[in-house]
Amino acid sequence: MHFSILFSFLLLTVPVTVNACEGECIVGITNAFLDRYENGPLKTVWKNIANQLSGVMPNNPGPFTAMTYLQPIFDTYRSRAYDGMETAIFPSYFHGKCLDENGQEPDGCPNPDCSIVCGTPGSLVHFYPHLRYIAFNQTRHLVKELSSPGSDAYQQVEQNVLNAVQSNQPSARMLRIYGRSMPILLELQKRADDVREQLKMVLERVDFLLETKCGGSGNGDTHGLPDCSWEDAMKQYILTFP
Ligand SMILES: *[C@@H]1O[C@H](CO)[C@@H](O)[C@H](O)[C@H]1NC(C)=O
Repeated sequence: MHFSILFSFLLLTVPVTVNACEGECIVGITNAFLDRYENGPLKTVWKNIANQLSGVMPNNPGPFTAMTYLQPIFDTYRSRAYDGMETAIFPSYFHGKCLDENGQEPDGCPNPDCSIVCGTPGSLVHFYPHLRYIAFNQTRHLVKELSSPGSDAYQQVEQNVLNAVQSNQPSARMLRIYGRSMPILLELQKRADDVREQLKMVLERVDFLLETKCGGSGNGDTHGLPDCSWEDAMKQYILTFP
């Protein structure tokens, strides 16, 4: 065997033995939070929103169809959620060595329960309440941003909704019968404005709905967010990494 091959094999394997959350650990934990949010609280929140949206549309398309109008928000969420979540957890908060002010590594570090904020599974376990808050805060900020009128996704949703409302209006027939009379055009314009406003009000509550679904106290409280915690399962999972 060539020495150089053996040597690069060692280079590749050595970092894995370092006790830090890297590589698969980072990807695994990031995805674990994303999956739990997406399949749990976010699903409920979007169902609620789709229900309300259907209710405020004059043609009442039903929640299932209303959900399809929200697709641009879901697509953008999926494309941005991973990077946002990974950065928010690592390295924005959990990173570095687990040394105290004297350069010592306290008991429990790097694993399984390390009282220094650092980049190891044991530290994530010890500061789980904050980790839970980071995951919530990140999710809330992203859905809020995408559900606000300034975002491209929001503009596409608005267009979907207006198209649906307009294609269901007897506007073409009305215009043929009554001609391009001002009252009708104004009426159609007013309806579009109303729907726009209603959509804005429905989506404005997305962060409130998420916080409520998570059990409240999404303000950094140690005991907040009981329903978006998954504490036992997540701690077990976190400690499967070296
Ligand atoms: C919450 O998330 C946003 C968006 O990523 C970030 O700018 C903000 O600093 C976070 N707040 C806390 C307290 O972590």
